[in-house]
Amino acid sequence: MHICTDIAELRRNVQAWKKAGERVALVPTMGNLHRGHLRLVQAAKQHAQRVVVSVFVNPLQFNEAADFKAYPRTLDDDAQQLRAVATDLLFAPDVDVIYPRGQAGNTKVLVPGISDVLEGEHRPGHFTGVATVVAKLFNMVQPDVALFGEKDFQQLLLIRRMAADLDLPIEIISVATEREADGLAMSSRNSRLSAEQRQLAPVIYQTLRTLQRQLVQGDHRYTILEQQAVAALNQAGFRAEYVAVRRAADLQPATPDDTTQVVLLAAWLGQIRLIDNLMLALNPR
Ligand code: PAF
Repeated sequence: MHICTDIAELRRNVQAWKKAGERVALVPTMGNLHRGHLRLVQAAKQHAQRVVVSVFVNPLQFNEAADFKAYPRTLDDDAQQLRAVATDLLFAPDVDVIYPRGQAGNTKVLVPGISDVLEGEHRPGHFTGVATVVAKLFNMVQPDVALFGEKDFQQLLLIRRMAADLDLPIEIISVATEREADGLAMSSRNSRLSAEQRQLAPVIYQTLRTLQRQLVQGDHRYTILEQQAVAALNQAGFRAEYVAVRRAADLQPATPDDTTQVVLLAAWLGQIRLIDNLMLALNPR
């Protein structure tokens, strides 16, 4: 596996592959890799001959400096895991490479609407940070295809919208959320949970499953169901930020006419903020 930290070297490699007629996939990450990321790499191999993984903890998408600082950085271990799944190139740039004129002065990519609800409401500026860095990574790598996990469902919709609005010739592919045996969605943040918090964490998945069951059974009292789920989480020891039943296509409030809905939630366990979601196919009214 080739490891590079600068854009010129990255481009030289990608151009050589493209010249040889090979398709290139990009898996953007912030490192601290787990099985969910490796699944993305494995899925990428089904769509391209070459796989580039980027590891960059993007300061522009963090709301709090302390959260950015605390984000686990494990590049040596990440490289080892990526080698084991035969990644072709690891791109691990420094902040100066991505934002040579600083973050404030960098051109921003704003995806309206989708950036303002749910995660966007609770993390102002977060999605502009995500869209900006992903657009830059897309331009640096120029992949044929890019893969994202469904765990960050709103991020996935945001990137699809950005790629469509900016006419980027990149196919966006989503990969199902990887879960622990007890249902907890895999996340780099899980490594920061205490033993006690880790035991409690699967309540998130159980709450989503309960809500999913209620909706599939035809319960349309969305606001009441959301409130009950928030109360259940808080009673279990979480600090729920939101539980929302939304139309899967655009995250607008759900209606009984929807064919596909998604239930999404964000909740704190101590200082750790966890998110998860579940999709459901429905027979509309
Ligand atoms: O999902 C992530 O890890 C990040 O938001 C991403 C897409 C790599 C952009 O920094």
